[in-house]
Amino acid sequence: MDATHRHYLMCRPTYFAVEYAINPWMDPTAPVDADLAVRQWEALRHIYLDLGHTVDEIEALPGLPDMVFAANGATVIDGNVLAVEFRDPQRADEAPAYRDWFERAGFETHEAKYVNEGEGDMLLAGDLLLAGTGFRTVTAAHDRAQEIFGRPVITLQLVDPRFYHLDTALCVLDERTVAYLPEAFSPGSQAVLRRLFPDAVLAAPADAEVLGLNAVSDGRHVVLPSQATGLAAALRERGYETIGTDMSELRKAGGGPKCCTLEVRK
Ligand code: ARG
Repeated sequence: MDATHRHYLMCRPTYFAVEYAINPWMDPTAPVDADLAVRQWEALRHIYLDLGHTVDEIEALPGLPDMVFAANGATVIDGNVLAVEFRDPQRADEAPAYRDWFERAGFETHEAKYVNEGEGDMLLAGDLLLAGTGFRTVTAAHDRAQEIFGRPVITLQLVDPRFYHLDTALCVLDERTVAYLPEAFSPGSQAVLRRLFPDAVLAAPADAEVLGLNAVSDGRHVVLPSQATGLAAALRERGYETIGTDMSELRKAGGGPKCCTLEVRK
């Protein structure tokens, strides 16, 4: 199993908080340790640096407590950037911030036009772009992504509100392999996944419930929440090296390692 060098964009959780509830994980009345959130994020960043990956940072903006979830900032393939449009007004101002970052970095950016929450719902698996819908990203955005990226888009219907973004229900492990929670998808989408990925790692609900599938793989190393012990064991059995990391504070907003990580594919 070969690791390939990755380039990630992350956003320090300087203004992180749970001030509103746009998914079932978020409880604005529950306490959040903001300093611990920063330390957990720093630990994640150091894991990537220790693996030899490149990590860029976008500056956090006050008043945007979910901006730490960089995966929602764009989808980037072959140096092409599809900008995002959030479903919820609380996150709307993150979209131009991410788009500006890519423009300043010299990327060609394309306007979103339809609600699409970036890599939260669009995951590249080899030549296929797996695209989630049901809660956030709309299917018109899937069609647009196919036009922009020239990759076949596979629409997948999410059905469990706890797994509201595709990256909470499915993780791309390498060009040919994914891990996913079958119950998070409609029967038709489960059949599609079985057909495309007959050798997929099937996650158990207990692992998905600690956001274990919100994992980041470089083809060999899989960074996942430390609480997802069953999934980690299943991945090691398949030959992956797992790196567990505690994201307990960010999970209070419904996020894990992958949510904090946007892949920049030049
Ligand atoms: N509170 C954020 C939201 O509900 C969490 C986003 C997590 N990001 C992700 N890629 N799943 O929008």
